[in-house]
Amino acid sequence: MSDIIEWKDDYLVGLGETDSQHKRIFQLLNRLAAAVDAGKNRRDLPYILSDVLNHFRYHFTSEEVYLKDHPDYDVHHQLHCDFTEKARKYEEQSKTDEKFNFKETSNLLADWLKDHILRYDVKYFQDLLEKTVIESID
Ligand SMILES: [Fe+2]
Ligand SMILES: [Fe+2]
Repeated sequence: MSDIIEWKDDYLVGLGETDSQHKRIFQLLNRLAAAVDAGKNRRDLPYILSDVLNHFRYHFTSEEVYLKDHPDYDVHHQLHCDFTEKARKYEEQSKTDEKFNFKETSNLLADWLKDHILRYDVKYFQDLLEKTVIESID
């Protein structure tokens, strides 16, 4: 089966640590989708989903250390909070709802991530790197 989310250089924010975390989440989303396609036992899928969501949460905390210096930090932080709340619901439903749709959820998460990186992460890091608040490291 083909990947549900494909990396391209448009997603680079210019900070190696953040780019690596984004790439890792891409991999984990593809792993989740592949597990669904491969007919993996439904009991295992919530753990694979939780692994993806844990990486999202860890990533937000890490990313916000840099974004704190951005004048519109609050807007970005709120987007992360809203997503985290949604993620918590998905996680809960995936464990209790027998009809929980893992494939659809992995697609929703992938779409959110792509849109968020392109519309917010890239812009915010660009602003900060332009002001040389943070150094570009690869
Ligand atoms: Fe991010
Ligand atoms: Fe972000």
